[in-house]
Amino acid sequence: MTKDATSTRQDQRAAITRWHGTEIENFHTAQIARQVTDLIQQGRTVIPMHFGQPTAGTSPAAQAAAIQATRDDPIGYVESRALIARIAQHYQTTYGLSVDPARILLTAGASPALVTVFTALFNVGDRVVVGRPGYPAYRNTLKALGREAVEIDLDPVTGYQMTGAMLDSIAAPVQGLVVASPANPTGAVLNRQAFKSLSAVCARRQMTMISDEIYHGITYGERAICALEVNPDAIVINSFSKYYRMPGWRLGWMVVPTDLIARLSAYVINFFITPPTIAQTAALMAFDDHISLDESVAGYRHNRDQLLAALSAIGIREMHCPQGAFYLYIDVSHLTNDSMVFCQRLLQETGISTAPGIDFDPIRGHEFLRLSFALRPDQINQATKGLVTWLKAQPTRSNAPSAKAPAGPSST
Ligand SMILES: Cc1ncc(COP(=O)(O)O)c(C=O)c1O
Repeated sequence: MTKDATSTRQDQRAAITRWHGTEIENFHTAQIARQVTDLIQQGRTVIPMHFGQPTAGTSPAAQAAAIQATRDDPIGYVESRALIARIAQHYQTTYGLSVDPARILLTAGASPALVTVFTALFNVGDRVVVGRPGYPAYRNTLKALGREAVEIDLDPVTGYQMTGAMLDSIAAPVQGLVVASPANPTGAVLNRQAFKSLSAVCARRQMTMISDEIYHGITYGERAICALEVNPDAIVINSFSKYYRMPGWRLGWMVVPTDLIARLSAYVINFFITPPTIAQTAALMAFDDHISLDESVAGYRHNRDQLLAALSAIGIREMHCPQGAFYLYIDVSHLTNDSMVFCQRLLQETGISTAPGIDFDPIRGHEFLRLSFALRPDQINQATKGLVTWLKAQPTRSNAPSAKAPAGPSST
C-alpha cells in the first residue's frame, strides 16, 4: 500500500471517531470513474461501460432550447407548469392513466426523490424491502436516514424477479417496498401479474410501495407497467436521466397520491427549493424527440444482443437476458472473487470501464460485473472485441464455484 493510501485510511478512521453522524458505503463505481478521468487526462481512450449513462448525449433540440433560455430567461426558481402538464399527458398517452398535474412534483433527478420519500414516509427504525442485487443508493440512503433496508435475494435462475410470496415471507414489522422495473443492474422487468401480487401484499400489510420507473421507455419486449396501473397508492419516481438522455441536467419527478401532495411538496421545497430551471426548459423539448430517443433504444437492443452472443460464446455463465434498461450483469466467478480489482485491471489493460458487482450486491457481487451497453455504434464493436479478448485471456480460478443452471439468455 502507498504512503498516501495509508494516511488516507488513518484520516478516515480518525474522522469516524471525531464526527457525529453515520458512515455509508461509497459507490465503488465512483472510484472507477475517477480512474477513467485520470486515464483520459493521460490521453487514453476509454469506452465507458461503468456508469449508466447514454453516450449519445442529450438531443440537439433540448440543448438548443437550453442555450436560448440562458439568453432570454432570468433563471429564477421555477417549477414549470408546462413541463408538469406535459408529464401528465405522458401518463395518458403511454399508460392510459389520467393523472392530476397537482400530483406531479418535480425533483432534481430520481436521487433527491428517493431521499424525499424515504424521509417523509418512513420513521427512524422503519424497515423497507429492496431487491438484491439492486441499485446501491436504496440501501445506502435508507441507512443514512436511520431506516433499515431489508434485502430480498433475487436469483438469476428465476430471472431476478421479486414475487408477492417473497415479499410476504419477510417478517413484520415492515413499512415499505422499493421496486424497480426495469431494474438496475439486471434489466429484469416485472409483468402486470407480478405488480398485482406485490401490490396485494403491500395493501394487506399496509406497506408503502415506491416504484422507481427511471428505466421506463427502455424495454425490449412489452412496455413496462407503471405501478399506478395496478396500485393507485403507489409513489412513482421517474427521471430524465436515462430514456431522455439527460443525466447531468439533474431532473426528475414523482407522482404521489392526492393526500400526500401537501406533505411531499413541503419536503421538496425545504430540501431543494426547485430543480434546475434550464433543465426544465430542455426537458420539455426532449419529450417531443421520440424519434431520436427510440433510435437510441433500438441501438441498445442491438448492443445487448451483440454482447450477449459474444460473451455466451466464451462461456460467461448465468447471463440473464435483460428485458429493459441497458445493463448486462454477468457472473465472472470462474475468473475472480474480487470484482473491484478485476474492473480496475480490465480498465488499465483495455481502456474498458465497467462497474464491480459489489455495488449492487454486497453478498455475491464480488463475483459479478455490470456492463452498461448504452454505447454509440462506433463504441460497441470495440467494446465487444476488447472484452472478449481480455476475458478469454484470464486464467480460471482453481477453486471457482460450480455454475448454477443458467436462466438465459432468452430472446424477446
Ligand atoms: C434504479 C435507479 N434509480 C435511481 C437512479 C438515480 O438517477 P438520477 O440520475 O435521476 O438521480 C439511478 C441511476 O443510475 C438508477 O439506476
